[in-house]
Amino acid sequence: EKDGYASFMLKEIAEQPRAVADTLLGRVAEDGTLRLDEARVRPEVLREARKVVVVACGTAFHAGLIAKYAIEHWARVPCEVELASEFRYRDPILDHRTLVVAISQSGETMDTLMALRHAREQGAHVLAICNTNGSTIPRESDAVLYTHAGPEVAVASTKAFLTQLVACYLVALYLGQARGSTDGAEIRAAVRELARVPDALERTLATMEPVRDLARDLADKRTVLFLGRHVGYPVALEGALKLKELAYMHAEGFAAGELKHGPIALVEPGLPVVVVVPSPSGHRLLHDKIVSNIQEIRARGARTVVVAEEGDESVVPYADHLVRVPAVPPLLQPLVATVPLQVFACALATGRGNDVDQPRNLAKSVTVE
Ligand code: M6R
Repeated sequence: EKDGYASFMLKEIAEQPRAVADTLLGRVAEDGTLRLDEARVRPEVLREARKVVVVACGTAFHAGLIAKYAIEHWARVPCEVELASEFRYRDPILDHRTLVVAISQSGETMDTLMALRHAREQGAHVLAICNTNGSTIPRESDAVLYTHAGPEVAVASTKAFLTQLVACYLVALYLGQARGSTDGAEIRAAVRELARVPDALERTLATMEPVRDLARDLADKRTVLFLGRHVGYPVALEGALKLKELAYMHAEGFAAGELKHGPIALVEPGLPVVVVVPSPSGHRLLHDKIVSNIQEIRARGARTVVVAEEGDESVVPYADHLVRVPAVPPLLQPLVATVPLQVFACALATGRGNDVDQPRNLAKSVTVE
């Protein structure tokens, strides 16, 4: 079943272009408008929601963090993102004008299920984003948008994450369409860009050899830090989570803007720091700020691994290792920038002799609290 791959994880990483394409399939009409009627979100909920609350765990939570940027941008609705395990024990302020989005690959994660029950009891409308047909979370939700990643066997989530991102972008655009906060031309442009992502992913996957070499090189390190800004911040968190769960290494993701507020004290000679650089064509100031962050950590001896868009020459002098990803619109960058971090964690774990499909102490779906 591994189709010649050494692990399910490698197979699932390679399947990402198809998974993304399948998740887009049938969801855009000929005229470029979004057709998510299958999800069955009531039109008045789309139009009148005063707030969106995303609940999820682990990697799905990172997808939710990225959803916030897209929802604020396209739908212009306030959006909160919550760890399901925290949300359910708080006293959140919800009502019938709250749209709760529960993201789960398996559809069986207990904390996410409890969070959505908690939300429904208070009258909120729940939309599930889920990869498993007929599982508990979609069954208990008011509406569901399925991701079409196909079965994900490896414990570490890869292709499901990318398809969760696609679903989140679609929901943000759908809300923008229903509320009139994004015009048709912008929706069509965004959808066209999404349709190009599978190709961009193929290109990314074809250039991963240096990432594997680098991982072998770093296999005996104790700590790796990850930095990002804007949508690159959750990507940094995801890169760190992958490394923890697969390589059993200490890894942490930070918002690069927080460096000076503490984390820079961790930097010492030889420490590998992976930096996800935002597109220079997006928010220029943000891009330039992260380039100066790279300079700062390098001046303190960090070994910089820089993930940057093709053609971004400004990072070249400060990158000990440069990983290129194709240029995509700034909000969509996580779709391509996550891939090298998955490959990195997988190769590093393999180099340490770990079983990447069944990491120690972990289960594919966490059905206990
Ligand atoms: O099935 P779910 O998406 O609800 O699972 C959530 C997390 O348990 C899951 O993403 C976990 O963090 C993965 N092992 C990450 O690779």
